[in-house]
Parts: sequence; structure tokens; C-alpha cells
Amino acid sequence: MKSKKKLAGLALAALLSGCAGEPAPPVQPETVESTAPVFDFEAKTVMLNSGYAMPIMGLGTYSLGHDTCVNSVMALLESGGRLIDTAYMYHNEEAVGEGVRRGMEEYGIPREEIFVITKIYPSQYDDPEAALDMALEKLDIGYIDMVLLHHPGKGDVQAYQAMEKYAAQGKIRSLGLSNWYIEELTEFLPQVTVMPALVQNEIHPYYQEQDVVPFIQEKGIVMQCWYPLGGRGHTAELLNDETIRAIAEAHDVSSAQVILRWDLQRGIVVIPGSSNPDHIRENLDLFDFELTAEEMAAIAALDRNEKHDWY
Ligand SMILES: NC(=O)c1ccc[n+]([C@@H]2O[C@H](COP(=O)([O-])OP(=O)(O)OC[C@H]3O[C@@H](n4cnc5c(N)ncnc54)[C@H](OP(=O)(O)O)[C@@H]3O)[C@@H](O)[C@H]2O)c1
Repeated sequence: MKSKKKLAGLALAALLSGCAGEPAPPVQPETVESTAPVFDFEAKTVMLNSGYAMPIMGLGTYSLGHDTCVNSVMALLESGGRLIDTAYMYHNEEAVGEGVRRGMEEYGIPREEIFVITKIYPSQYDDPEAALDMALEKLDIGYIDMVLLHHPGKGDVQAYQAMEKYAAQGKIRSLGLSNWYIEELTEFLPQVTVMPALVQNEIHPYYQEQDVVPFIQEKGIVMQCWYPLGGRGHTAELLNDETIRAIAEAHDVSSAQVILRWDLQRGIVVIPGSSNPDHIRENLDLFDFELTAEEMAAIAALDRNEKHDWY
């Protein structure tokens, strides 16, 4: 693949071209040299503003029960994936921790190669230190790579300040936010000391956040998407979308792989949820094909501002 490090810029240019079929305008120097995080498609990582490298594709664990969650985490680790997303609200931090510990032992993976994200919930913001201690205990993997605030709520600034303190103590490594948009970020950022390393929001071809994504990336914050395949109950429609299927056929890959690759080319980290080891392997296999500017623009044109969850 050519010029992989410029893919984020090229993808942005493709999106800016606005409609399918039109050639993308040339990439302007300021786009290439912008502060937006750039993915390393060779290492399959992105350097966070916290100084830690994070894998750009992994596994989401929302709605996975204990045994399924352990099996999915182990399938991911066995297949070379290293990024796992959980949350207090998913009630499976213990299972993620168990999967990580067993995977490290069975596949000989050093802890430093694995990146675990968890989130504290607004109901926990009034005692964030208890929430962080509980997450550390449930996961039981030493430090936590990244903690996010699940969504805005009363006491979120204070909760983030507790996260800053835990990061200074080395108990957690990087900080981030989830379900924060332009207005929320504009209000939040002046009140905290440590710039968030990542924002995780709902993004899929029918809900693309074409204004929010560049706003966040230009601040040097990595964007990550939840519901990349639309979320349970919506995946069939997205995976059978005619445009996506046609692109998938052209590259001899699946619709899911096209959507995940589209995210990566926009500079968005993917954490598709799955309980199926075959899907987990497929979702990591995103590096032997590249979407053209025209294909990126065709998917951009599918945006219909259709959110599949409320926050
Ligand atoms: N921050 C937040 O507020 C928030 C909210 C929601 C979710 N999240 C995070 O984002 C992650 C992703 O969201 P999600 O899991 O809810 O939805 P999703 O990734 O959009 O979709 C998951 C569904 O896609 C299916 N799937 C996965 N890979 C597939 C493939 N290659 N081919 C066909 N079907 C495939 C899964 O079925 P199988 O199990 O059969 O593979 C599952 O039914 C969550 O797991 C969670 O970690 C965060």
C-alpha cells in the first residue's frame, strides 16, 4: 500500500469532496501537517498524546456475559488483537481481566502489549476514587491502560480530576471521554489539566459525525467509535447496504471489513463487539486492502444522521 501515513489526510480530503464520484482535491500541506493523530498502518497503532501507543483495532465487550467475554478476549489475543474495551456498566470487567490474564499466560503475551479501556459511569461520579479502585480490583491486571468518563453528568469534572490524580500515581495510564461532542468538549476542556487522549462516540455509516470528528482530531485527540456496525439489531441493514456490499465485492472482503477499514482511513479506532471468534479474526484482518477516495466518498454519502442510541 502506498503513502499509508497520509491516509488520514487523504480520507479527510475524500470526505471534504462531498459527493460520490468526484475526485478528491489534492491534500494541502496544512492537512498533512495538522496535529490530528496519524495512524501507523505498519505497526497498527496510534501514538496517544499521553505518550502511550494504542492499537487501532480491537474488541468491544458490551453485552458479553462472563464466559462469552472471557472466550472473546482470548480469541482476540490469540488472533493478534491487543485492544479491549469494557465499562463498569457492562458488568464484565472481571471477565475481561480473566481473559487478559489467561491470554497472557497461554499465548505468552507481555502485559505491555495489551491495552484495556474501561469507563466509569455518571452514577459513580460522586465518589470517583471508589469507582477507580473498584475497576482496578475487578480487572486485576495491574494498571489500567485507559479510563473514560462514560458520558457527561453531574460531577464529571471532579471525576476526571480524580482520574488525573490516579494517572499521576501510575494506576491508570491515559484518560479519555465518551459521548462528548463539540459543545460539551468546549465547556469541559478549560476545566481540566490533562488533555483527554481519546474520545469514544457512536459512529457508523448512517451516523458519521462529519463535524465532530475533525473538531476532536484537530486537538490531537484520538477518535474511537462505538456501534461501528450499527449496534445489535441494526447490523443486518448496514452489512446489506448496497453501496457497502458493492465495495466489499470489489475488494473480495466482507461488509464488516469495509466499514471498519473506512473508519481506520478516517483516523478512527475500531472496537467492534463480537462473541464469535471467526468474526473477531475477520475484524482484525483490515490491512491487505485500501479503499479508494471514491469509495470513501461513496460511504460518506450514506450519512443520514441516524443515531442508534440516546447518548
Ligand atoms: N461508550 C459508549 O457509550 C458505548 C456504547 C455502546 C457500545 N460501546 C462499545 O463499542 C463496542 C461496539 O459496539 P457493539 O458491540 O454494541 O456494536 P457493533 O460492534 O456495532 O455490533 C456488534 C454486532 O455485530 C456483530 N458482528 C461483529 N463482527 C461481525 C462480522 N465480522 N460480521 C458480521 N457480524 C459481526 C456481532 O455479532 P457476533 O457476536 O455474532 O459477532 C454483534 O451482534 C461495544 O462492544 C462497547 O465496547 C460503547
